[in-house]
Amino acid sequence: MRQLLDEAAKGGYGVGAFNVNNMEQIQAIMEAARETKSPVIVQASRGARSYSQDRFLYHLMLAATELYPEIPMVLHQDHGNSPETCKSAIAMGFTSVMMDGSLMPDGKTPSTFEYNVSATREVVEAAHAKGVTVEGEIGCLGGIEDGHGAGVDALSHLTDPDQAVEFVRLTGVDALAIAIGTSHGAYKFSKKPTGDTLKMDRLIEIHRRLPTTHLVMHGSSSVPKDLQDIINQYGGKLKPTWGVPVEEIQLGIKNGVRKINVDTDSRLAITGAIRKVFWEKPEEFDPRSYLKPAREAMKKVVAQRMTQFGQAGHAGDYVPIPLDEVARGYQQHLAA
Ligand code: G3H
Ligand code: 13P
Ligand code: ZN
Repeated sequence: MRQLLDEAAKGGYGVGAFNVNNMEQIQAIMEAARETKSPVIVQASRGARSYSQDRFLYHLMLAATELYPEIPMVLHQDHGNSPETCKSAIAMGFTSVMMDGSLMPDGKTPSTFEYNVSATREVVEAAHAKGVTVEGEIGCLGGIEDGHGAGVDALSHLTDPDQAVEFVRLTGVDALAIAIGTSHGAYKFSKKPTGDTLKMDRLIEIHRRLPTTHLVMHGSSSVPKDLQDIINQYGGKLKPTWGVPVEEIQLGIKNGVRKINVDTDSRLAITGAIRKVFWEKPEEFDPRSYLKPAREAMKKVVAQRMTQFGQAGHAGDYVPIPLDEVARGYQQHLAA
C-alpha cells in the first residue's frame, strides 16, 4: 500500500479503501476498478475475516489478482484491534494492516497515548520486516453502531495535532488515520455537516504539521439521499441522516488525504437493490436474481467514488514492487 499511497501523493489524488465480506463485493470493486482504470485498496475488518473464515476471503482475493492483473491491488486489514490480529493478517498475505491502537483490544475503550505508541510500534517492526504497510490511528472516531469507535461523541476525541506529530515520529507509521468528527455507519450527522461538526480545519492543520504523512479518512461514506430513498421506498426504515459530502473529501485530498474508507455506501447500495427485487418480484427465489443487481449497484457507487477521489485512470501508471524489495527499502531507510 505504501507504493500506492506514494503514487497517489505524487499524482495529487486519493484512493478509496472499500470493505468486503464476500465474493459479490470483491467482484463489484474489481469491475469498478477495471471500468475506471483505478488502483484499489480492498479491506477486511475482523468481522469480515471471521464471516469468511479467513481462507475464503484470501482465495477470493487471489482470484481477483488472477482475473484483474492490470489493477494494482492492496489487501488491507481494517481496524486491527491488537498486534496479534495484525500479525495474523501479515502471515496470511495481507499487504497492509491497520493497527488501531486508539482503542484498547476490546475495540471500544479509548486507550492511552503510550499504549497506542507501543502497540503500533510493535506492528510497524513486524510489518516492515515483510514489506507490509502500516496505518495507525490517533484520536477516536464516534459511534458504536458497527462495533468500531469509542462509543463517544464524534467530537470528544478529535486528533490533537501535537500528538499526531509525536505519534508519527515515535511509531514510523506509513499512514495516519485521524479523527475529525466522522463516525462509522449510516448515522453520522443529523444535518448536512458544517465546520462545527466536520473539522476540516483540523485536518488542514495536521497536514501542515505532517506534510509528508499520508492521511486517512475513516467513516467517509457520503450516505447519499438517493440510496437511502431506494431502501425506504421498498420497505426499509432508515431514519433521515447525512454522511460526509464528497466535496469535503475532495478538500481533504487537496490536503494530504490519500486513503478514504468507505463501507456504508456499498451496504446501502446492496440493500436497496435487494429490497427492490424482493418488493417487485416476491415470487423470486434464485439468489442470483437479487445478488446480480446488488453487485451492480455496489459497482456503480464504487466507480463513482473512484472517479470523485481522482484514482480513476491511474491503474497503469506503475508496476507494483514485490514485498521483499519493499522490505529491503525499509531496512535501508532505517540504516540511513
Ligand atoms: O470500520 C468498519 C467497517 O465498516 C467494517 O465494519 O466490523 O461490521 O465489518 P464491520
Ligand atoms: P463508513 O461507515 O462511513 O463507510 O466508514 C467505513 C470505515 O471507516 C471502515 O474502516
Ligand atoms: Zn474505520
